[in-house]
Amino acid sequence: MDIARNPATVPGNPELADAAVEPAQPETIHRLDYTPPAWLVPEIRLEFELGTELTKVKSTMKVERNPDGSHDQTMHLCGDNIAVMSLSVDGKPAEGWTMSGANLLLPLPGDAHEVTIETHLHPATNSQLMGLYASNGMLCTQCEAEGFRRITFFPDRPDVLSRYTVHMSGPKDAFPILLSNGDMTASGEGEDGTHWAEWTDPWPKPSYLFALVAGELVARKEVFTTMNGRKVDLAVYVRPGDEERTEHAMRSLVNSMKWDEETFGREYDLDTFNIVAVSDFNMGAMENKGLNIFNTRYILADPDTATDGDFDAVEGVVGHEYFHNWSGNRVTCRDWFQLSLKEGFTVLRDQMFSAAMGSEPVKRIEDVRILRAAQFPEDSGPLAHPIRPDSYQEISNFYTATVYNKGAEVIRMMHTMAGPEAFRKGSDLYFDRHDGEAATCEDFVKAMEDGAGLDLTAFRLWYEQAGTPKVTVHSEFSDGTLTLTVKQKVPATPGQPHKKPMPIPLKIALFDRATGSHSGEHTLMVDKAEQVFTFDGFAEAPVLSLNRGFSAPIQLESEVSDADIKFLAAKDDDAFARYEALQQLLTRELLGAVEHGPDEARRAAIAEALAAVLDDDGIDDLMRGELMMLPTISFLIELSAPADPMAIHASRERLKAYLGQRLHDRLTALHDRASAVAYSLEADARGARKVKTQALILLSAADEAETARRAEAQYRAADNMTDRQGALAVMASLDAPARDDLLADFHGRYEGNALVIDKWFAIQASSLRPDVLDAVEALAKHPDFTMKNPNRVRSLYMTVAGNPIAFHDETGRGYRMIADLVLALDPLNPQTAARFVPWLGRWRKIEPKRAAMMRAELERMAKEPSLSKDVREQVTKSID
Ligand code: ARG
Ligand code: ZN
Repeated sequence: MDIARNPATVPGNPELADAAVEPAQPETIHRLDYTPPAWLVPEIRLEFELGTELTKVKSTMKVERNPDGSHDQTMHLCGDNIAVMSLSVDGKPAEGWTMSGANLLLPLPGDAHEVTIETHLHPATNSQLMGLYASNGMLCTQCEAEGFRRITFFPDRPDVLSRYTVHMSGPKDAFPILLSNGDMTASGEGEDGTHWAEWTDPWPKPSYLFALVAGELVARKEVFTTMNGRKVDLAVYVRPGDEERTEHAMRSLVNSMKWDEETFGREYDLDTFNIVAVSDFNMGAMENKGLNIFNTRYILADPDTATDGDFDAVEGVVGHEYFHNWSGNRVTCRDWFQLSLKEGFTVLRDQMFSAAMGSEPVKRIEDVRILRAAQFPEDSGPLAHPIRPDSYQEISNFYTATVYNKGAEVIRMMHTMAGPEAFRKGSDLYFDRHDGEAATCEDFVKAMEDGAGLDLTAFRLWYEQAGTPKVTVHSEFSDGTLTLTVKQKVPATPGQPHKKPMPIPLKIALFDRATGSHSGEHTLMVDKAEQVFTFDGFAEAPVLSLNRGFSAPIQLESEVSDADIKFLAAKDDDAFARYEALQQLLTRELLGAVEHGPDEARRAAIAEALAAVLDDDGIDDLMRGELMMLPTISFLIELSAPADPMAIHASRERLKAYLGQRLHDRLTALHDRASAVAYSLEADARGARKVKTQALILLSAADEAETARRAEAQYRAADNMTDRQGALAVMASLDAPARDDLLADFHGRYEGNALVIDKWFAIQASSLRPDVLDAVEALAKHPDFTMKNPNRVRSLYMTVAGNPIAFHDETGRGYRMIADLVLALDPLNPQTAARFVPWLGRWRKIEPKRAAMMRAELERMAKEPSLSKDVREQVTKSID
């Protein structure tokens, strides 16, 4: 990083050095401080003179005093890194305006005025990728959450809704395509090779949904007819050369539109729906009204360059952004504390959509795996927050697994309690009641109560309390009666030392040992710290199947015996519960072995259960692939804090080796069978590809040479990315002679294809070899590496952070590498830099020696006086 930026290092200036010791404390915003805006902006006209080096913006706003606001005569307009070039009110130069930091304070005498502001932007040097920026030759915008204020001065808060007209002009050769929200209402030719277009969006929207794109783009187009016969022009815009890889995105869009009509009764509401893929993007995608902007990785897919997982991700994210048109755009958020109102609900909607397009139980297993790997650690760490946070310094830091994924789980519980029909009544009422409004989480809960007929009085705690509830179930059986004692405890989290018990819908089934069946599911409503439930009429103690379908996002500590778990792993009719039983058995063994070595009887039981999974013709391969996966290291760390990550890794490798030996013949037979299935996107072919690589993973620790031979064969025979990437990823962890050849082959084959080169970096950074950090250091110097592209940075360094062998290297080198990265990236792109900090913030979960090194890296970062607000918030909270 640039040393000159840091005044503390300027020699001979003790005053500067002193001033720098105490970095400015960023302001904390509190949810309960909300006040309505004093001024509204019912209409805005934006005129852009586009250029990559310089773009001129003229904004003309009709502003009105808010009858429900304070009687403040001063209009507060947010700004960020922009200057006022001219400012007029009702056609005359404005008077008496001042700057308060980056914001503009404009005194206005009357109740309604026209305000015109000019600003100048420099897209080419906008490395934060917020506001208007240049990416791969085009211009595009990202405004959520607070990027619009980098374009023009505006009350940049989601409860100010305006009708937008956008006029754009620019050189036709550089920007042949000009897009914005809504529908194109006029266009024409200008002078000197320029042209212009005007877009009008009839739907009032907050500024975070504004978007503009200009560039040389090509589109795949299609017409969609809505349930009421409205014809919608759909287009997926990409850079020339990429159009062949947009078919799946377009199909996913059409499926989303149809599904939302059928499932939620939601129809699209404009004549145009455009998607644009850009290669430099901080997040996944953005739901701008009528003009969704995507990270290329969630649009471009074809069999040669995208894995089955990539295809699924495209489908899920295209659905997610489309569904926001109602859950987010038509009904938006009052303030950013309500973010889960749109994100939690929309994630649930995209999960339901993907489940409907594919396999419901497999999708559920994947979603729970993500929740456990990403959200549980957040919920038990220094950055824990409720799905509706109470305060923040930088809102970008709250686009979290908690707000998104736990938020979805909370609404899913309402769905479980209400049942699908009543839930639909609740969601209909929510959309009807709040259409065109900026709503709150409370509004959603109230609509669910009124529409679905639920009493959610106590359930609101899920919005208030952070932390994953720990639930224990103790069972006793006598005289035909089963007594379940259920206890719950919500752990303390930052700022919330004492918790109330939560209402938890716990789905259970009681299995008859003799017949292997049960007489129906029960949903227990657990809402006290301790509660007793009884069931009678059993001849012998039934086998307990608990939290079926993962009905609540809790950590369940069950006393169910290994034998009963094995029973469930073989017989449970709930596919999720069956998976869960196997995971539980695996978890017991993996963690038990860390403490006192392998448990022979349990290992044998696991091998037997897995053998049954491999032999069972009643399971499809997509599900089989799930059942073959061992719990992730990050999940195991959660359960065993303070953890020795290397001991957990060793335990995992040891079990893999054991299973690879015990199941050797079955695994090789499975690999052979699956290798004979021809490529298609159908479920059985996808399933074959999934078990193929899972078989190699289980075999790899048992027989390196055979695995290397099979992996190389799989790679060389591959006619698709799933097989190629799977084989190469297995190979990357081995010491095989062909390893370097295959990596070189992969790079050569895909040179110039950014998304695949990202994979090439990630595969090497995910290696479990002891030399992985040396390899990463070399890769950081590779000509294809750049700090300017978030996908590339993540492909190398997020993979390191998520690879326990690399990150938890006992010398502390992995920690240092991530801290160095944060410091180097922060001046360029604080939002993406901040995303790496939570990994180091998990130090409390790790054994003391490593924990001290992790904490020392946080302290080193905290000393940097020029840290961004984004990184500073995460670092400060992580040290405490
Ligand atoms: N609303 C977008 C989505 O969930 C995410 C945008 C987040 N952007 C940001 N800068 N934090 O699809
Ligand atoms: Zn979203």
